[in-house]
Amino acid sequence: MLNVDKEKCIACGTCTALCPQIFKMGEDGEAEVYNAEGDTAEQAQMCIDSCPVQAISK
Ligand code: F3S
Repeated sequence: MLNVDKEKCIACGTCTALCPQIFKMGEDGEAEVYNAEGDTAEQAQMCIDSCPVQAISK
């Protein structure tokens, strides 16, 4: 299951820009998964790999 570690997230916005069907910015200003199945596994992996602080896990 995709997850954003809010302790690590620095709210850079990369994941929400690359995978807007999976991630959105939460009210706390950090990214969260709102639809883990919203995009392809390949696209999800690209977002995982693109996070500068490795805050996204699956
Ligand atoms: Fe946060 Fe990483 Fe996304 S820093 S906004 S989880 S790309």
